[in-house]
Amino acid sequence: MPKIGLLLLLLLLPALALAKGSLRRNALARTPPMGWMSWELFRCDVACAPDDDLCIGERMYKAQADALARGGYVSAGYVGIHMDDCWEEKHPPRDPKTGRLRANATRFPSGLKALGDYIHGKGASFGLYTAESPTTCGGYPASSAHEALDAETFAGWGVDYMKVDGCGPKDYYAGGYKAMGEALQASGRDIVYSCSWPAYINGGNESMQPFATFINDGCNLWRNWDDIQCNWGSLSSIIEHWGMYGEALVPYAGPGHWHDMDMLLVGAHCVTEDEERTQMAIWSISAAPLIMGNDLRNVSAASARILLNEHAIAVSQDPLGQMGRRLDAATSPTQVWARNLANGDVAVALYNAATATPVLPPFNAAAPGKVAWTHTTQGYYEACGGAGAGAAGRPLCS
Ligand code: GLA
Repeated sequence: MPKIGLLLLLLLLPALALAKGSLRRNALARTPPMGWMSWELFRCDVACAPDDDLCIGERMYKAQADALARGGYVSAGYVGIHMDDCWEEKHPPRDPKTGRLRANATRFPSGLKALGDYIHGKGASFGLYTAESPTTCGGYPASSAHEALDAETFAGWGVDYMKVDGCGPKDYYAGGYKAMGEALQASGRDIVYSCSWPAYINGGNESMQPFATFINDGCNLWRNWDDIQCNWGSLSSIIEHWGMYGEALVPYAGPGHWHDMDMLLVGAHCVTEDEERTQMAIWSISAAPLIMGNDLRNVSAASARILLNEHAIAVSQDPLGQMGRRLDAATSPTQVWARNLANGDVAVALYNAATATPVLPPFNAAAPGKVAWTHTTQGYYEACGGAGAGAAGRPLCS
């Protein structure tokens, strides 16, 4: 090669490396994220009396981190403590000197770096919330047009996971989510990127969503649809949505990029125990993030057993990362959901959507199967379709 050619190549190399670096996706969230999030029960309750640990403030988050570790959730894989909306200082919206976002000083007197350190000290990771709009959905200052500075601030606080909502002009999202993906990547810290963009476009029609764009922007997961509310009507409508759109959703889920069905209601005292098992089973089969929306200090023993069910968690966290789906093409009151696992097994959930007739599994009755809820090994027929599989009896088998 002539010398001039070699020199040019050497000069070009750093530029190429930089371009490649800024497009490189992070290698995070190889299995669906697991943790706890404040929104379902604590919403935007900012009326904090002194010593209050039931409102959006550092006392409440520290108490949840304590309970996460104490209850065995961290060791089971639920590592994230995720702060949601309403943590920010509103007036003025940014530090007048530095332009940075700040936590409300009354509710977070120690600051978010200290809170992050506390959470890390419990063996957990620190999740935080912002939005690609001028304000969050709760009306607090957010990150549009401030992506680089905010990502640097979050990284400096030790944040490990950002839920990035959208509650503003839709035409900002394409540029905004891309910019935030690049900014998080450039922050120098490994930060899982959760994007809410799809929940706000195309009216929930999953066949129209630009999933490849979300993946290219670096989103490790994204909220597809409606917020879950603390009742069975809301929970079952999400199951139906995922059932209906399985074909459109499955190709875009995999290690590093997941569809988020929203928080688990298990332990939040708003659905029955059978309904809690149903959610844990369908979320695990669907490779959805397992992010609890309860108050960890107040979870019944029965709900804790559902959350900590090692077989359901193993299905959720299976390294193949293949999202499962409803096998019935059309809405059916008795449904079979299934997911391939790395070792060649198939995990199956039998779901009675609206009938007292037990769902009978399409397998040889004599085939051995492990029943996730009872931890015993029995025949599929007896285990999945037998007594107890009434209107709300929906065991998970593998
Ligand atoms: C939106 C999101 C919720 C929650 C609230 C906070 O509704 O979908 O999950 O983050 O905003 O305001």
